[in-house]
Amino acid sequence: MDKERKLIIAGNWKMNKTVAEALDLIQGLKRELAAVKEVDMVVCPPFTALSEVSKLVLDSNLRLGAQNMSENTGGAYTGEVAPMMLKEFSVRYVILGHSERRQFQKETDALIAKKALAAHAVELKPIVCVGETLAEREGGLTEQVLATQIHGSLAGLSKEQMNETVIAYEPVWAIGTGKTATTEQAQSTHAYIRSLIQKMFDDAVARRVRIQYGGSVKPSNARELMSQPDVDGALVGGAALEVRSFADIVKNSI
Ligand code: PGA
Repeated sequence: MDKERKLIIAGNWKMNKTVAEALDLIQGLKRELAAVKEVDMVVCPPFTALSEVSKLVLDSNLRLGAQNMSENTGGAYTGEVAPMMLKEFSVRYVILGHSERRQFQKETDALIAKKALAAHAVELKPIVCVGETLAEREGGLTEQVLATQIHGSLAGLSKEQMNETVIAYEPVWAIGTGKTATTEQAQSTHAYIRSLIQKMFDDAVARRVRIQYGGSVKPSNARELMSQPDVDGALVGGAALEVRSFADIVKNSI
């Protein structure tokens, strides 16, 4: 597939996989995907598996990501993980502001922006998630909600930092539900997000930034979604937990 930007496909394992299960999955992915050069591939295991997984991916084309981190550099924050602690395990990416964290941990756009700046301070690339709920889409509020999230979650980033930031558009109603946005919905929403980036930063940044689609991405819908001009990859949940489905999503996207 001839794309303007290199595709980036990331697996968000969420709160799944013991260390042993994680290593099994990584071994399988390494076997299946060793020859892939056309796509940036990222795996995001839970914190507890980062150390062991990092050793296995070192000599591979898989990059490591985390699912969250603190906005603080260290200190008295019980239960939190600092950005530098992720760097110890060769983590390159960090998912920020996933809708599950916005919902269950009440993360706000302002907090997510602080985390994005903290990530860049240690050269971690944030994957900043945005997306509307079903009620918001049905109420005709999608653009308004996305504009608020994009402006708030990316506030304060420089153009250089934005160039090294990935956006994940994940309609909340499509996450884990089996419902996917139609390719037209995905393309037009991605184009809208790119227009917001153009206004907030500039043309060059907007042309460069990669926007992933997330929400029930599977081997059967990956090709059509990835063929859209403004869809630059995927953030995959459920289908990232099995070698076969994640490998097929990658292969069907090339
Ligand atoms: P899903 O999750 O692929 O299981 O819908 C996507 C996500 O939450 O990142």
